[in-house]
Amino acid sequence: MATLSTNPVSARAHTNIALIKYWGKRDEELIIPYTSSLSLTLDHFYTDTTVQFKSNLSEDQILIDGQQPTEKSFQRVHQFLGLIRKQAGFEMPAVVQSVNHVPTAAGLASSASAFAALAAAGSKAAGLQLSPTALSRLARRGSGSACRSIFGGFAEWQRGEDDLSSYARPLFQEKLTDIRVIALTVARGPKSISSRQGMKLSVDTSPYYPAWVKTCQADLERLKVAIDQNDFSQFGRISELNAMRMHALTLSADPDFTYFNSQTLTIMNLVKQLRHNGVACYYTIDAGPNVKVLCQQSAVAKIAATFSKVLGEKNVIVTKPGPGVQYL
Ligand code: ADP
Ligand code: DP6
Repeated sequence: MATLSTNPVSARAHTNIALIKYWGKRDEELIIPYTSSLSLTLDHFYTDTTVQFKSNLSEDQILIDGQQPTEKSFQRVHQFLGLIRKQAGFEMPAVVQSVNHVPTAAGLASSASAFAALAAAGSKAAGLQLSPTALSRLARRGSGSACRSIFGGFAEWQRGEDDLSSYARPLFQEKLTDIRVIALTVARGPKSISSRQGMKLSVDTSPYYPAWVKTCQADLERLKVAIDQNDFSQFGRISELNAMRMHALTLSADPDFTYFNSQTLTIMNLVKQLRHNGVACYYTIDAGPNVKVLCQQSAVAKIAATFSKVLGEKNVIVTKPGPGVQYL
């Protein structure tokens, strides 16, 4: 049995933005994806989580942003803690306090930073000493994208074949370091269809899903070459293409759905216009209407000014590559 920490343990993990998207599970329980993915961890958005296991509790006590979570969110964290308890060989409940430092309801991958921070704080509080790979495998069980947030900078989630072989690893830490991601917030309400539901519907009903699996692998290989060669325009082009290929799976699902709203389309067109006028920038979009613009430091001022005029300054957030998970 692991030696449990008598003190609370706190960890911080940052969100990540996928440049080659994860969209579909081969194994829903273990969260093994159909395809490998590649992301960039961001400095601006993060989650701080504190965990302490206590024998005198009758059940887990969980607070997210100072509030009791919904039953669904509670169960998700509770089940995740169960994985830690199983590895540690005890059944003690835990006190969990977690704070998301991401713009309210901006849909910026809160589950990625949340489960990476929970994996780190929870495993250490339980007395487990996990390697970065083991931590990535554990975080994956909470939310697939969380396995990449264990690492800073670029991270590749190798899809693997089973629980043991599906985890992320850091790569290209010295490449494209002047990359910036400008997060543009266009909607504040909760998304109508979660990533989990959306990807399942795509896998189950889109006739294009097999083509996605094939092209995604090729996109990933091409993106890795672009990063290795510090080739920003290829990097942006491939990231944008891969994001659009993911969103084509939502439009071709039955019933069809989309994460875009009218402002998403307006921003996509503006990015294209900027590009046409010689500003190197590209977009990527996750499971929500907000757009992330990929650019280099030299283009930030121009792009931020353009979008501040359209969306207001507070909806334009410039982020840089961020660090991996850390103990506080
Ligand atoms: P997102 O795009 O923000 O990742 P998801 O639907 O994938 O959206 O994940 C949001 C879910 O992640 C929430 O409904 C909640 O269950 C969980 N979550 C978010 N923040 C936390 C947190 N700090 N601690 C634990 N679970 C969290
Ligand atoms: C569009 O990791 O949130 O952001 O594994 O079901 O928790 P679950 O899904 P999640 O999905 C992320 C989807 C995405 C693409 C990506 O981050 O790769």
